[in-house]
Amino acid sequence: MQVAEAKNRIVKLREQIEDLRYRYHVLDDPKVTDEVYDSLNRELKALETRFPELMSADSPSQRIGGKALDKFVKVKHDSRMLSLNDAFSEEEMQDWQTRIKKLEANSKWTYACELKFDGLATSLVYEDGIFVLGATRGDGFVGENVTQNLRTVQAIPLRLDLELKRGKLSEELKQRVISSLKKTKKIEARGEVLMKKKDFAKLNKLEHGKYANPRNTAAGAVRQLDPNVTASRKLFWQAYSLVTDLGQTTHSEEHQILLALGFPVQQTRDCLTLQEVFKFKNWVAKSRDKFDFEIDGIVVQVNERQTFNRLGVVGKAPRGSIAFKFAAKKATTIIENIIVQVGRQGNLTPVAIMQPVEVGGVTVARASLHNIDEIHRLGVKIGDTVVIQRAGDVIPQIVEVLPKMRSGKEKEFYMPKKCPVCQGDVKKAMITTQKTSKTDQRSITDSRAAVPRSLGEGGGVALVCTNRHCPAKNLRGIGHFVNAFEIYTIGPKIISRFKDEGLISDAADIFTLKKEDIEPLERFGEKSADNIIASIDQHRKISLAKFIYSLGILHVGEETAIDLAEHFGTIEKLTSASFEEIDSIPNIGGAVAKSVYEYFQDEHSLKFIEKLLKSGVKVESEKLKVKSGPLLGKKVVVTGILESLSRDEAKEAVRKAGGDWVSSVSKNTDYVVVGSEPGSKAGKANSLEIKILSEAEFLKLIE
Ligand code: IVH
Repeated sequence: MQVAEAKNRIVKLREQIEDLRYRYHVLDDPKVTDEVYDSLNRELKALETRFPELMSADSPSQRIGGKALDKFVKVKHDSRMLSLNDAFSEEEMQDWQTRIKKLEANSKWTYACELKFDGLATSLVYEDGIFVLGATRGDGFVGENVTQNLRTVQAIPLRLDLELKRGKLSEELKQRVISSLKKTKKIEARGEVLMKKKDFAKLNKLEHGKYANPRNTAAGAVRQLDPNVTASRKLFWQAYSLVTDLGQTTHSEEHQILLALGFPVQQTRDCLTLQEVFKFKNWVAKSRDKFDFEIDGIVVQVNERQTFNRLGVVGKAPRGSIAFKFAAKKATTIIENIIVQVGRQGNLTPVAIMQPVEVGGVTVARASLHNIDEIHRLGVKIGDTVVIQRAGDVIPQIVEVLPKMRSGKEKEFYMPKKCPVCQGDVKKAMITTQKTSKTDQRSITDSRAAVPRSLGEGGGVALVCTNRHCPAKNLRGIGHFVNAFEIYTIGPKIISRFKDEGLISDAADIFTLKKEDIEPLERFGEKSADNIIASIDQHRKISLAKFIYSLGILHVGEETAIDLAEHFGTIEKLTSASFEEIDSIPNIGGAVAKSVYEYFQDEHSLKFIEKLLKSGVKVESEKLKVKSGPLLGKKVVVTGILESLSRDEAKEAVRKAGGDWVSSVSKNTDYVVVGSEPGSKAGKANSLEIKILSEAEFLKLIE
């Protein structure tokens, strides 16, 4: 085949694949079959391999195959990603309307209503119609760049339909949008990453019930450093707002435009009064189980953009919109017993064992009581009838005791004087979960009520087992370890089984497991043995930060681990560091430094690390954070082609000079370096009055 012919075929394949994708994911047309879609993709991939010069960034074949990252790069949002205030009752909705009426006494408005999806907020940026940046919300101002991962989500278009061929826009609206598009290079849409209930059920079946709920699983999948893992999770994406002004005058027009551009989006239900809104909400509540996704309410907003914008923002949320949520689900049951679990750091947590009861479609039989203070606050006794609640997330909580239901046989609960697992001494200690990230919390929720939740927000005093060899600590420690190594085939049940069978005594033993060890175990077999061994092998290599985190050092969450890795660069340097050096690192306080120092002074820890390295764990050293240089603290964008440096070399040069490499220009950018054939960034830098440097000026600056 000649290049010209291949080119024609490739163009046709891309169009056909994009059309099928749109029909399947955006129009939800079940007639499209996976086989046809896969087959066209295979042919495209083969042709692009033969003719690499015909590759392009928006080709559907570019969805997968990206390299695993060491960590996510932070990105600043062009405009803040807000959140929503909640209402749980019609009265609260009336109050909201009254507040708006006060501010907009002379306006008339309507309401645009839509489903509120229970997923993870993300922003997608397109330049000239091509997907260039996908980011998480983060703190609303700065999120993480997860572009590679979001590319794998089939519902996300890699190229927008700027000719609006597909949507059903009125001619007038279409003209308005087309004329706005002429003046717009960059388009930003925001929406929710989701997992369909059926895809979640499939995954969880495959992985023996490892995941707590679709939302956490979707959020975890987006934050995978390896895009291939994200790709395997079958995520979905739904748009809910168009940030860029494309001439929309109402929120419902915004949705129509999003659809015409190629995004999956629901149509809004437009309501004239709150009474109509309530009707819609009741219908959604009744139909809740029939939707493909988890929803936790509806979003109601003032439809007219001008009024909406005038209403402005209060706190973190726009005044003109509100989440009208379904009431938390509650049920009553009886506490049969209160047991005490021992966590990874030896913390003793009381857990209520209850008569199983269904709350919002999930059977609940246990709930953490967090600590003795919480037990006193609730006034709960063994035998009590209690109200349990499952709010937005799935962790069930005991919210109230019904004392009138008491028979007099209820028993007071006391915390044990010895560790219930090893009979070791217990003492009071501070447990911090400071700086643990969402993924950390995810592992907490995964182990279902294993760790006291009230300690989740900043920590507190807990009873802890002092025995270093306590088997319970060890078990949870191994759980934490495999999570940090992302060996997802090994869940808590399997760890416990391996321990019982004598296959492992500590986490390092995992790396010397062989297929023959696992295969003969009842309920395992060849396939699962293969899977486990393969995933262990795939995860032998680990970044220094993750490795430090995996060790489960008291007070060291993911962020602290990153700080330590960036300061020391190698594990050897960290193990031999003095207390003073650790304590001197910004962001690391005295208690944390002490804990880190003591951990590495302990010969058990050093032996354990040595054992890991001998078992084939490869720790990648970290690039040291540059703490001085001419670009210290400066954000630098490079656009166009530089003569003396490749893009990677330029990146490295910026880093070495202490600067931060950023990919898009915003008002926080300090320098824009402009090479030949610069893109739109140069113009943007000009309009924002950001200092522009030629290549020569840049080189001089970093000399
Ligand atoms: S509009 C001002 N519409 O809920 C923020 N949000 O609790 C714009 N969400 O951060 C939100 N479905 O992640 C909007 N149909 C929907 C939504 C939705 C889910 C999420 C979104 C937001 C969070 C607020």
